[in-house]
Amino acid sequence: MDSGLLRAGRFAAPLDGGASDFNSSLPFDKRLFAFDVRGGIAHAQMLAERGIITKEDGKAITEALAAMLAEEPPISGAEDIHSFVEAELTRRIGEAGRRLHTARSRNDQVALDFRLYALDSCEKLTAALAAFLQKLVTLAREHLRTVMPGYTHLQRAQPVTLAHHLAAWCQMLRRDITRIADARARMDECPLGCGALAGTTFPIDRHMTARALGFAGVCPNSLDGVADRDFAAELLAALALIMAHLSRMAEEVILWTSSEFAFAALDDAHSTGSSMMPQKKNPDIAELVRGKTGRVYGSLFALLTVVKGLPLAYNKDLQEDKEALFSAVDTTLLCLDAFAAMVVSLVFSKENMLRAAKMGFLNATDCADYLARRGLPFRDSHAVAGALVRFCLEGGMALEDLTLEQLRGFSPLFDEDVYAALDLHECVNGRASYGGPAPAAVTEHLDSLAAFIARLRGEGERV
Ligand code: ARG
Repeated sequence: MDSGLLRAGRFAAPLDGGASDFNSSLPFDKRLFAFDVRGGIAHAQMLAERGIITKEDGKAITEALAAMLAEEPPISGAEDIHSFVEAELTRRIGEAGRRLHTARSRNDQVALDFRLYALDSCEKLTAALAAFLQKLVTLAREHLRTVMPGYTHLQRAQPVTLAHHLAAWCQMLRRDITRIADARARMDECPLGCGALAGTTFPIDRHMTARALGFAGVCPNSLDGVADRDFAAELLAALALIMAHLSRMAEEVILWTSSEFAFAALDDAHSTGSSMMPQKKNPDIAELVRGKTGRVYGSLFALLTVVKGLPLAYNKDLQEDKEALFSAVDTTLLCLDAFAAMVVSLVFSKENMLRAAKMGFLNATDCADYLARRGLPFRDSHAVAGALVRFCLEGGMALEDLTLEQLRGFSPLFDEDVYAALDLHECVNGRASYGGPAPAAVTEHLDSLAAFIARLRGEGERV
């Protein structure tokens, strides 16, 4: 496992085989290969520029690292990706390769590689979130007038539209995108040059390497630069919330596609069967998204627990940071793709949603509002509508089934136009307050979401 690079001089004996395997991070940190090489190139160019190594050595290192990046050599035989890259470089170009580690430690190297990975993940996550958001906006536009029940306590409450409901999902995703942008902005500082913990005696230019690697700035304290993993914890927290959102959406899809709700049918291509029950068509994709949420929460807690008792600066415990973030990023990206594809393949039943909205007195608030508009204090209107509901329940009727005479028995303020006020489509159209379910209000919201996506894509702007 050990290439010998790290033990020359100090150690008389090789590392025990079991200890070596236990100590090694190569099986998982090999994913950082490209970031490590890019960091090496920036470092070598800076060393040469500052006269710390010769221009010739700088050129030889840079060219060999660039070739490695293109070739992607098989990775093995080292303690970690950092010692692998250095050993492979030295195997290729000899002595010049042994100069690359001047003014550098694996501690600032790993902090750099992991940050570059996190920054790259932010781009991928933002793209996946934006793609899902775009799909939802398109789907919502098709359902501006698809009336469905809105719920509180999972009890039918007031009529909304499917567009309004999907646009609520969109807001979750929009916040997720901006949360990642916030985390990204804070992690945009380069730790390279912090050394093992206390910088270096060589006249390095940290701003030069930071610029070359695309960072907005440099970590201003060398102890903090190598010890900080906030950026990973913050990204994990953002991932945990994305998964919380997907899980809530997944739960709704599971409910909507049940026979009890029957608001939507799963597409064959995005549902699964049962080994025993031939009739079954199961929402496995949604259930897996809900289930995998636990994994991502677990990763957040794993990292928070790893860092909680660590004295400054680097401690090997920090090697445990990587698998947590890798797993959470992989899982979230997988879930976003699979869930988005499944949602857009759902076949919604407008009839069933409307039928459900017609049961359960969803227009009772509208009935009370009608009386309030005619001058009755809302508290009294609420009581009249409540009494009407009770009356209807006894007779197995809906409010709109009552005759005007019956209605007037409860309040003389009722007129013929009450039937229009009780019509579900009218109830939805009437809720035109900003953010409400009226088609015009939802269209305005969807337009703003579309503009948000366009800004994200067009300018590459981090909104
Ligand atoms: N594999 C190590 C990690 O992931 C790299 C840094 C090693 N540094 C050290 N001082 N042992 O954290």
